[in-house]
Order: sequence, then structure tokens, then C-alpha cells
Amino acid sequence: MNSLKQILCTIGLLLCTADADNDRKPNFVFMMVDDLGIGDLGCYGNTTLGTPNIDRLASEGVKLTQHIAASPLCTPSRAAFLTGRYPIRSGMAGHGRLGVYLFTASSGGLPREEITFARVAKEQGYATSIIGKWHLGLNCEDNADHCHHPTSHGFDHFYGSIMTNLRDCQTGHGSVFHGVHAHIPYKALSIGPITLALLHIIGVITVPRKVVFGLLALVGLVVSIFWLMLYTFANLNCFLMRGEEIVEQPFASENLTQKMTNEAIEFLERNSEKTFLLFFSFIQVHTALFASPPFRGRSQHGLYGDAVMEVDWSVGQIMKTLERLKLKENTLVYLTSDQGPHLEEISIHGEVHRGCSGIYKAGKSTNWEGGIRVPGILHWPGVVPAGQVIDEPTSNMDLFPTVLKLVGASVPSDRDIDGHDLLPLLQGQVEHSEHEFMFHYCNAHLNAVRWHPSGSSAIWKAFFFTPIFYPENSSACFHTQLCFCIEPFIIRHDPPLLYDLSRDPSESTPLTPDTEPKFYSVLEAIRAAVNHHTQSLKPVPAQISPQHLVWKPWLQPCCSSLSQLCKCERDHQIGQPRHEKL
Ligand SMILES: *[C@@H]1O[C@H](CO)[C@@H](O)[C@H](O)[C@H]1NC(C)=O
Repeated sequence: MNSLKQILCTIGLLLCTADADNDRKPNFVFMMVDDLGIGDLGCYGNTTLGTPNIDRLASEGVKLTQHIAASPLCTPSRAAFLTGRYPIRSGMAGHGRLGVYLFTASSGGLPREEITFARVAKEQGYATSIIGKWHLGLNCEDNADHCHHPTSHGFDHFYGSIMTNLRDCQTGHGSVFHGVHAHIPYKALSIGPITLALLHIIGVITVPRKVVFGLLALVGLVVSIFWLMLYTFANLNCFLMRGEEIVEQPFASENLTQKMTNEAIEFLERNSEKTFLLFFSFIQVHTALFASPPFRGRSQHGLYGDAVMEVDWSVGQIMKTLERLKLKENTLVYLTSDQGPHLEEISIHGEVHRGCSGIYKAGKSTNWEGGIRVPGILHWPGVVPAGQVIDEPTSNMDLFPTVLKLVGASVPSDRDIDGHDLLPLLQGQVEHSEHEFMFHYCNAHLNAVRWHPSGSSAIWKAFFFTPIFYPENSSACFHTQLCFCIEPFIIRHDPPLLYDLSRDPSESTPLTPDTEPKFYSVLEAIRAAVNHHTQSLKPVPAQISPQHLVWKPWLQPCCSSLSQLCKCERDHQIGQPRHEKL
């Protein structure tokens, strides 16, 4: 009966709804690529890069053209993806300049009170795994409490990096801290003690020698700890864990995509008889870029293109494995990027290391469409119609309620959930998405609002502030590695800058009361929605505050003694070292 139903569904004779009661519950394979641009993929219009496996996923499934990341930055976007909530609700939105973690020994992270779709799936008997990048914190109070670790958030299995990939993870790629030195007040730090000493020498004041030397020593100590931390950055932050154990510190990048792919295939094979949820969180294509030897030099777009091609190959391997294990018809596959491409990425040798946002303006860390409009592909033969393109606004927060529905759990009622179940839209039961309003935050600051009124084709977007680009007519913040969300890096707009994305998807010409008769009434409706939204926010502890971002030596995970600079390499099998490379 089931196979008959499947055939009828496939040829379109039945309107097939996912039926969690009658059928076996579906499996989930979610793939998130880091910093991938929507304009990098063939199925979204790229003609020169070559992503046949991802393109096939789209042609056999649904392609979302207005799929919106909840944030233009990694840490908050991923927090929102896992929890179905705007990052501001979980405290995963920065209040200062920085909006992401830079150290494994920071104390912030996704709070345990948050419910992830992995936790819910696990409670429903699913085998759950995350392979690749986490970037949502590790420890709270000591270097092994693992309060923010994936295993504290519903993932039984983890193989990957707690932090993100960074230039500093690979020698020869420069440093993201390059600009930091400019901000350290070396002069101010040393001027104090030196002035004191001079005043003492010429006899204007008498300061005990101890005080002068003590101050100088303190400044020296702080500066040398900082330098030591930068010097050992890769060891301290770029390591692989399997489960809760460090297995490679620091990691070798070159064949990382291959290793992750093998691990994912093994997970699928191990769990083919059970129901499972796999979150394959690619470490690529974030800088420092890498590609394994068979992929190097293969694309027309340098190392960046090679890395995208390797990711595409990996997607192909995952799909082949599902096919071989006869799991394709019972697995919802999703592919996305955590945000837009990082346009500021030029290698230290001047090579372009950034992706492409197609017709959309700007990229990562901005709320222009290029920063938040990401690929969104959903694949589930027989349930989700093949070859469909959906232009309605959707969000990476929608996967949370979608998973909950399909695993047979109810959506928590004690908190606000901002995502909406995707299946009714995917299956054509409804024409319009439930995302009438979307709130685009830049860290903890409300940056822009999108309004898609029901019964209208308009997609209004109003900006309360926009980043200042360098040079002015570019689309990037080359002046800083990222665009920041606060003065003096932004311009405020009152009245807000208003666009209609349905007519101007590239956000090229803001509307005025002269060019748009509805100008004031649209802004009025948006203002009312903002009030309503703001009232729903409850105060929560900030997780990306300065005190939760700084490097805390006592939280530093390290697989060897400190004198060995935290280096080691261990075997696949937990607790069985293959060889210690020290
Ligand atoms: C395809 O992607 C590459 C790499 O991001 C980019 O340089 C190129 O401009 C894109 N081509 C098109 C037609 O969008």
C-alpha cells in the first residue's frame, strides 16, 4: 500500500501530505555551507562555477528564491536555525562591535534553556549528529564542563570544530587580528608609566620605584599574553573533537572536507535502520580556504571556486549514499548557507577569496539582500514536488517547526517561535508564507524590516540604518573586515530607507513620498509591527557580550600539557591514540 501511494505521489495523482502517523517518520539531512553566496550556484544562475550535484538537488526538489537567514553572521544565524527563534530571544546577538565568537575559550554560547530541533528529534528516538562547524560556544566555568557543546543541545554524535574556520587556522593566510593591533592603545598603555618615571626623575613628584616597575611589568605581561595567544591561535582554536574528546589539535585543513564527508557517510550507514537527523555543517567556504589535491586548480574561480566544487562533490556523495541505502524517499534534505558571501575576503596575495551574491546588494554582516538571501533547497521525492520554485519569503528558522511537526512533537508553548512549518507551502496547500513581517537584526540592533502584505505582490523593506561602505560607491566594508552595526560605521535614516523588493530586488533606488504614494502608510504599518515585535522580547542574559567573548585561559581546552602547546593527533576510536604527534 505504501509503495502504491508513493508511486501515485510521484506521478502527481495524489496530493501527498507528510503523514507522521501512518508512515515511518522521515529522516533529516541538513547541509549548511559557510559563507556560500547565492550567486555561486548553478541553480541560482551561476554559469561558470559548476555545482551539478546541488543543481540536481534543486531540480529534484523545491528551490526557494527568497530564503532569508535570520542573521547575516554565523553565530546568531546558526543559533536561530537550531532554535527557530530570532537570535535576540536567546541572547545570541552581540551588543558591541563583535557578533561572533573568536575563541574556544570564551564563556558565552547557546544557553541550555534553548530547545534545538536536534533535542526534540532525540527525544523522539532519533539518532542525531552534527558534523563540521558548531560556533555556538563550548564551556561556561572550567575547560571541560561543555555546557554549550553540541552534546548539551541534543546531538548524540559530533565530529568537527567548536569554533569557526579562520585565516589564523592555516599558516600563510594572514590573520583576522591584523586590524586589532591598531585598536590596542599600546601608546596609552606605556605612556602612563613612562610619564610617571620621567616626572619622578626630574623631581616633580616622587613615586616609589616599585609602582613604576610594577606598572611596566603589568603592561608587558598583558601584551605578551596577547602575543602568545595569537602565536598559538591555531592550536588553541582550530581543533577537531569527536564527541567530547579532542582528536586533532590543531586540525590539518587540506583534506577536511573529505574527512567530514567520510564521517557523514559512516553516520548514515550506521543509522540506516533507525530514524536519524544529520546536520552537516560545512567548514568551507569560509577563509582560510582549502581544497584537497584532486580539486585544486579545477575551477575558473581560484581556490574559492575549487572549495565550492569540493563542497558540491560532497553533497553528491551524501546523496549517493542515501540512494545506495534506499533512504532517499524517506529523507528530507535541506541545503543552505548560514549567510551571504564575505565580500571583504581578498587573500594576502591579492586573490579573490569571496563568493558572489548575484544580483543582490552587498554581502555577509549586512542586511542588504546579499547578506541574508541564501540558497534554500528542499528535497524529498514523493512528498515535496520536484522542480518547483517558490518565491515567497521563508527563513532558516522555519526548519525548527518543520522538524517538530514531522517527528510528531508539539511546538513549545512557553516561548516565542519565529519560524513557520514549511510543508504546507512546499506541498502547495497554501500559496502564501506566514512570514508577513520579518525583522532583520544587525547584532542586537533592529536594522531593517520586511513586509510582504497578504494579498499583495509587494515586498517592502525599510532600513533604519545602513553600513557605510569603503570606498563609498562599493558594496563592501574593506575598511574593517566586517561591516559593524554601530556608530561611526553606520548612517541612520529617518524616515527609514524604503524599497519594494518585488520591483527593485537589487535595492538600488530608495523610494520617496513622490515616487511611492503608499510611502507613509507602509512605514506606519512597519512601525506598528516593530512595536508589536519589540513587546514580545523578554530580557535574557547577553551571550555575546564583551565578558563572554574574551579569551579566558581557564576555559582553554587542550589535549596535551601546555608546555607542548596543545598539540596532538588521535585515532578515530575514542580514547585510543593512534600516535601522538608532538
Ligand atoms: C559565479 O561564481 C563566481 C565565484 O563566486 C563568481 O566570481 C562569478 O561572477 C559567478 N558568475 C555568475 C555568472 O554569477
